[in-house]
Amino acid sequence: MLVGGTPFRTVWLEGSTVKLIDQPKLPHSFGIVDMPTHVHTARAISTMIVRGAGAIGATGAFGMAQAALQSPDQGFHETIVAAAETLGRTRPTAQNLFYGIETVLKAIQAEGDNIHQARQAAVAAAQAVADDDAACCEAIGRHGEPLIQKGCRLSTHCNAGWLAFVDWGSALSPIFTAHRGGKKVFVWVDETRPRCQGARLTSWELTEECVPHAVIADNAAGHFMRTGQVDMVIVGSDRIAANGDIANKIGTYSSAVVAKANGVPFYVAAPTTTIDKDCPTGDDIPIEERSPDEIRYTWGWSDDGQFTRVRTTPVDGPARNPAFDVTPAELIAGIITEKGVVPANPQGIASVWRS
Ligand code: MRU
Repeated sequence: MLVGGTPFRTVWLEGSTVKLIDQPKLPHSFGIVDMPTHVHTARAISTMIVRGAGAIGATGAFGMAQAALQSPDQGFHETIVAAAETLGRTRPTAQNLFYGIETVLKAIQAEGDNIHQARQAAVAAAQAVADDDAACCEAIGRHGEPLIQKGCRLSTHCNAGWLAFVDWGSALSPIFTAHRGGKKVFVWVDETRPRCQGARLTSWELTEECVPHAVIADNAAGHFMRTGQVDMVIVGSDRIAANGDIANKIGTYSSAVVAKANGVPFYVAAPTTTIDKDCPTGDDIPIEERSPDEIRYTWGWSDDGQFTRVRTTPVDGPARNPAFDVTPAELIAGIITEKGVVPANPQGIASVWRS
């Protein structure tokens, strides 16, 4: 997507350096940071310099390519397996991360003892993961756009825009496509405490694309649905179970329940790389729990231009911070994938998953 007229992806490889958009600084400043080794890349994933299912999937893949390029011939395969473990320990919920790492690991291992070829295969496989993610998200836009009526007032949670993928995004891709086609949409953006991906990132993306929108407190979403001001919800997903249950950013379940109670169709948009065939139901999806400090503190720019952290709870007040929740399949009107819109049930999921 364009930033100030220049096309950007969220992550790419230059030589053996992984380049990332510095997401914690957005929307206040736009910059690129360099990750010189796969250990730095892993840390960028766990500290959420890069975040969002597809984006961390591609970053994990590029981290593997980086490890292949930088590992000595001696003990090459042992080093690569250790790198896969390091990258895989960063965040537990998004299926795309494991897809990205494993795709590159298999490409390396398929070359056996030809280390030179293994390095080339790693770079090609990582680039293919990133390109596929971007192409899937563009196709999600095409498949999801017909669901959006002219003048539609949508609601979304967290950031499932292009910053959460390599390009285009999942939930925002049909919205961008509808907007570019002149459908005059409006988007209610849940701020998405505690890390405010909606307030910081989704609103920034929509502003860059000139899509009319308003950021609302998470607990205002029910009010706007009950008073008939929301026609449709589209959210992303970090992992889809075989029965159609989905995990997404904490607060998604509440939005789905309120949507159901008010007859508002609730759609999930995700590439098929988010499906975990080995996960029978949502109860089997590992839910990341992050530091309670993300609840105790909030941060942003003060009006005098300082990047500031402020505490909103008593000092060391007890807090819990699950990063994701599960929305059961029965609350979901459909899953928008790069292969089309499918029902959130075992047959629908099995009709699109990758072999
Ligand atoms: O914790 P994050 O920011 O990595 O969470 C991922 C997300 O952005 C959301 O859950 C999103 O809606 C789905 S991932 C594209």
